[in-house]
Amino acid sequence: MSRSVRLVPAVAALLVLAVTGTACDSGARGAPGGSGAGDPYFPKAGNGGYDIGHYSLALDYTPAGRRLTGTAVITARATRDLSAFHLDLSGLRVDSVRVEGEKARWSRSGQELTVRPRAGLSKGETFLVTVRYSGTPRTLTDPDGSREGWLPTADGALALGEPVGSMTWFPGNHHPSDKATYDISVTVPKGLQAVSVGEQTDMSTKNGRTTYRWQAAQPMASYLATVAIGRFDITRTTGPHGLPVVTAVDPGQAEASAEVLAKIPEILDWAEYNFGPYPFSSAGAIVDRPRDAGYALETQTRPFFPGPPDVSTLVHELVHQWYGDSVGPASWRDMWLNEGFATYAEWLYDEDNGGPTAQETFTSLYEEGPDDIWAFPPARPSGAAHISDSPVYQRGAMVLHKIRRTVGDDTFYDIVQGWAAAHRHGTADTADFVRYVERKAPGKDFRTIWKDWLYGDGKPAHA
Ligand code: TRP
Ligand code: ZN
Repeated sequence: MSRSVRLVPAVAALLVLAVTGTACDSGARGAPGGSGAGDPYFPKAGNGGYDIGHYSLALDYTPAGRRLTGTAVITARATRDLSAFHLDLSGLRVDSVRVEGEKARWSRSGQELTVRPRAGLSKGETFLVTVRYSGTPRTLTDPDGSREGWLPTADGALALGEPVGSMTWFPGNHHPSDKATYDISVTVPKGLQAVSVGEQTDMSTKNGRTTYRWQAAQPMASYLATVAIGRFDITRTTGPHGLPVVTAVDPGQAEASAEVLAKIPEILDWAEYNFGPYPFSSAGAIVDRPRDAGYALETQTRPFFPGPPDVSTLVHELVHQWYGDSVGPASWRDMWLNEGFATYAEWLYDEDNGGPTAQETFTSLYEEGPDDIWAFPPARPSGAAHISDSPVYQRGAMVLHKIRRTVGDDTFYDIVQGWAAAHRHGTADTADFVRYVERKAPGKDFRTIWKDWLYGDGKPAHA
């Protein structure tokens, strides 16, 4: 329903009363916002009717007892008139919700937290939502069986959010299409540390508890947020142009991680040469124990590793900062734009550092790679359980290699740098990419690449 529906006079009169401030709970204009962002793989992820600009999260966590209390102050803008709107939150207890400082009604159903502000919201209006919540955060099991959300570790906890795990530790618009800046403060028992994304702005201890404040000044999708609580060896160095590089390493992993993490500045140099300027105001890594999680993740500015990464995995997660983090996927269908690029960067790094050429990697995958590479086309994963399968990674990288062979190195690097610049801090989908490549290489024929390699079922007949 929209404001243009014709109203019978009695209803119109009520509406006037509501707008002029007479107490009337049902006077909110507009319709409820949607419960999803329209994602083809995760239909309930994200919400409709507003955009979040900033999250200010204040968390307090005690590992013994696994208790979290949180306050989320969210700045959002209505993209249409709203009588109600949704946030995503999984588990935990909601203690109160305020909109613009006024108590709001709310209800919960599954991961949907529905908020009904007293006054309703007008299209274009900026509003502040404050949610107080508490409880023991959940670990989620994804459709593919992997674990994400809030993962307890031996000395603390770790938050991983791809694709939907961040809704276990803060309420929000949990879909990659809505990026925002973040302030994250985490209070933990004195003696423990809390590491997050961006730059640390403060640390203070009071009554036996220490608060660490972090700030992500560039827009971030919520799945790329993280908090790591525990004991860490923190190292601060600099990368290209004085870029702050902060690594946080579980003390038991420190010795085995030192040599590979020392490569971060030179890998960032190499990546800037190939992909253009690093998109964020700091970099680094978080290394926890191998059993703390089943995979690495490209958490923004500070990728996460379960144990010391090998160089390829480090390159992969660092290059995600350009492709995946800065240029985000418009929906989870576009995952190959993250993983194909990060995987192809591993091949390029090998090629530039005395390993096999990208052509050799391509050929060996085509000729003797596992059959599951061909299970589905990279641009159309065969369901939510498959968005992290090998067609998205390896065959996605093969698509990029085919493009490189078609256009030559000069145009290829123009394309990958231009793509990162064109969508910096934004999102894009596969159709955007196809158009972009065709515009950068007029006269080249990409039809087979799109039809057979990107969108086609089965193994393409020719390498
Ligand atoms: N996207 C991560 C990366 O490429 C890996 C990852 C996250 C993953 N979640 C997953 C892999 C689930 C397999 C299953 O670095
Ligand atoms: Zn990846």
